[in-house]
This record gives sequence, C-alpha cells and structure tokens, in this order.
Amino acid sequence: MEKAGLITGASSGIGWELAKIHASRGNHVVLVARRAEKLHQLAQEIHHSYGVKTWVIESDLSLLEGVNKVVESTRREGIFVNYLFNNAGFGGWGKFSDRCAESDAKMIAVNVQALTQLMHEYLPQMLERKEGRILNVASTAGFIPGPLQATYFATKAFVISLTKATSYELRKTPITVTALCPGPVKTEFDVAAGMSNSTMFEQGADAHTTALKGYKAMMKGKRIKISEFSFAILIKVFGPFVPDGLLMNTVEKIQSK
Ligand SMILES: NC(=O)c1ccc[n+]([C@@H]2O[C@H](COP(=O)([O-])OP(=O)(O)OC[C@H]3O[C@@H](n4cnc5c(N)ncnc54)[C@H](OP(=O)(O)O)[C@@H]3O)[C@@H](O)[C@H]2O)c1
Repeated sequence: MEKAGLITGASSGIGWELAKIHASRGNHVVLVARRAEKLHQLAQEIHHSYGVKTWVIESDLSLLEGVNKVVESTRREGIFVNYLFNNAGFGGWGKFSDRCAESDAKMIAVNVQALTQLMHEYLPQMLERKEGRILNVASTAGFIPGPLQATYFATKAFVISLTKATSYELRKTPITVTALCPGPVKTEFDVAAGMSNSTMFEQGADAHTTALKGYKAMMKGKRIKISEFSFAILIKVFGPFVPDGLLMNTVEKIQSK
C-alpha cells in the first residue's frame, strides 16, 4: 500500500501550493479538482521536480458521487491517505435574500459536506495505522458573521468548530487536525466568488506563503493557524470587545468595496 497526501482544490491557489510543498518533502500526492488539465499540468511539474508519484482525480465535490469517486479511486489504487488537505472551497457574494439557493447549496456541499465526508472516510485508517494529519482550510471569515457573504462565512465557522472539536477528541492519538485561517489571499477565489471588482484582495497575501504557514502549523499539530499576524491580533485581542453590530457594519463596508 502506497502512502500519499490527498489535496482537494489542487488546480489553483492555495491547494496548488500545498501540493508542491508536500511533494517537495518527498511525499506522493493525489490531486483532486474539476479542472483535470490543470491537475495534469501540476502532476507533471511535481513529478519532474521532485520525482514522487502523482495521481489525478477529476471530481466535482459539490456532488455526493464526486466525493465517492475520490474515495473509491484511492481505495482501488491501494493508497493510504496519511495526509488529508481539505482545501477545496469557494465563496459567493451578495445579500442572502438575493442569492440563489442552489449556489449556496453547492457552496455548503463543497466547503462543509465534502470536507466532513472526506474526514469520515480517511480518519479510521489513520487511526488504525496510528499515523495521519489533516489540514482543513478555513478562513478568518469563520470567526465572524459576514454580511454580503453570509453563507460563506458560516461555512468557515463550521470548519473551525469541527476542526477544534475533532482535534480535541483525537488529542491522545498521533492524529492531528489543523484549521488554516487566512485573510484575503491573491488566488482565483475573488473571481469564483463574484468579487473580481473588490479591492479587498489587492493587498492580499500570496498563495505560497499562506500554504507554507498552514503546512508548518499542520506539521506541528497546531489546532488553529491564523496566517497573518495582524488578523490574529484583531481576532484574538480586539475581537471579543467589539459589539456585533459594529463588527457587521465594518464587514459589510469592506465586502461592498
Ligand atoms: N483566497 C482567499 O482570499 C481565501 C481566504 C481565506 C480562505 N480561503 C480558502 O482557501 C481555499 C482555497 O481557495 P483559493 O483561495 O486557493 O481559491 P481558488 O484559487 O479559487 O481555488 C479553489 C480550489 O477549489 C476547487 N474547487 C472549487 N469548487 C470545486 C468543486 N465543486 N469540486 C472540486 N473542487 C472545487 C477549485 O478547483 P476547480 O475549479 O478546478 O474544481 C480550486 O482548485 C478555499 O477553501 C477558500 O475558501 C481563501
């Protein structure tokens, strides 16, 4: 049985970088997303640079069949997923009442359902083999309510809560669960979220730096990693003292720029 790290959303942004970082440390990788040509391009690049094995799984994680396809493919190939990078995700801008229910349902399916199901699928084998690490990509959005991106912020709150509780449950085992919580990062996220006109991402962090911070936190077994120091101070130090109304007013203003 081959060991490999499975990275969802490896076709761009933070997932692309996580795959390269993991492979550069001599690990085989399984790359998952919908855009197969991008995954094959990355697989070639990784194999050429690091000489590790790569597998590409084209899958739409908003569908139950898509998640099942990932699990069945790794089982068929005899892969033990000892590192799970639950990174695939997307946002969606607009007032909740104006947004279409189907788009939000897809977002919840990818950001929440697929992430949870993949943990359920791969955790038992990690426990059996006494080896495994999980990195869930959340967001600083998960610490606060988000007018104009209400559903997205709520999905990330779920990821943070799930990560904290499962990592606590697993504290007496060798398995760790980490949530990476970035602020704005320059990736394809803004376009996918319908926010390509937003100024929020102009000063965003770069995807490689963000991925590396998450990767290091995962290797240390940290529960939560807020990737930018300034956001960590805002959330941890000032956050508890800011009234909800003021907080949401500020978030709404930022989201509408
Ligand atoms: N960029 C930011 O400002 C920011 C900040 C905080 C947190 N995050 C989080 O970071 C993670 C990665 O996002 P990113 O910034 O790197 O954005 P990105 O460049 O848009 O990458 C998103 C990845 O998710 C995949 N994905 C989306 N829908 C999918 C589906 N239905 N099935 C399978 N894969 C799907 C995309 O692949 P395909 O399109 O090929 O399927 C892509 O590889 C997300 O969870 C996001 O919420 C981003």
